[in-house]
Amino acid sequence: SQPLEAAAEVKPETAKRVKIGIYFATWWALNVVFNIYNKKVLNAYPYPWLTSTLSLACGSLMMLISWATRIAEAPKTDFEFWKTLFPVAVAHTIGHVAATVSMSKVAVSFTHIIKSGEPAFSVLVSRLLLGETFPPAVYLSLVPIIGGCALAAVTELNFNMTGFMGAMISNLAFVFRNIFSKKGMKGKSVSGMNYYACLSMLSLLILTPFAIAVEGPQLWAAGWEKALSEIGPQFVWWVAAQSIFYHLYNQVSYMSLDQISPLTFSIGNTMKRISVIVSSIIIFHTPVQPINALGAAIAILGTFLYSQAKA
Ligand code: 3PG
Repeated sequence: SQPLEAAAEVKPETAKRVKIGIYFATWWALNVVFNIYNKKVLNAYPYPWLTSTLSLACGSLMMLISWATRIAEAPKTDFEFWKTLFPVAVAHTIGHVAATVSMSKVAVSFTHIIKSGEPAFSVLVSRLLLGETFPPAVYLSLVPIIGGCALAAVTELNFNMTGFMGAMISNLAFVFRNIFSKKGMKGKSVSGMNYYACLSMLSLLILTPFAIAVEGPQLWAAGWEKALSEIGPQFVWWVAAQSIFYHLYNQVSYMSLDQISPLTFSIGNTMKRISVIVSSIIIFHTPVQPINALGAAIAILGTFLYSQAKA
């Protein structure tokens, strides 16, 4: 009976792998579509504070409709839940708007190369602010991550300081978001999907007044007319696509976070960036020099070494 038992043990394990594989593939595909439409919109309509707000608004609306029509069951939350969610939402808002501002100034590929340096921020924040220590191999893996990102940045043909700083701020904010949300999701009965829904809603409330203060309805309206006249009616669909796909890829990523460890999650996130970098370079004909590509490759290799060292 031994081979039979072994087969029975293998099956759930294989099924789980297949399920996670499907989550990952969906997450990356949705993210690639988001990044392409987001950049198409930003090229014609350079108002990243508004497009970030619209992404959150669209996701919030989609989830409110799903709850009202019972497509998804609404979560039972209390004041304590929203209080713990608040710092996560602040970090999510900053990370999101900073990444979008970055992508409005530089190539999508450049933003994501810098964003592949996120593990380095995670180690530095954990070490300097939380006093956590790591094995030497983890610190060593930061050398190719930081070195590769630096090489890619200095050889970037269309370098822009706001674009660079936006991606760096996004890295820092998302490290805090991950630290806070790990605490927030622990022992809670709210599913990954609903957790992300609540996060979008709270972030929308936080972001809206800032978006109005920084850009505001006057600029938005004038820019909208211009984009519509230049692109035509399909511009509206681009805005809709970037907003819907932003919500969907984040929702799937939070659903997979329910199933996997944060470490597997960050490996999945880095592999996601490779597909975004490659597809955006092809679609937007982004010029890349060999030395620039080498920097990106070193940074991504560093991220894999980091995940090995952490495991
Ligand atoms: C955003 O707009 O929030 C960023 O593009 C998201 O970055 P991520 O790839 O880390 O989700």
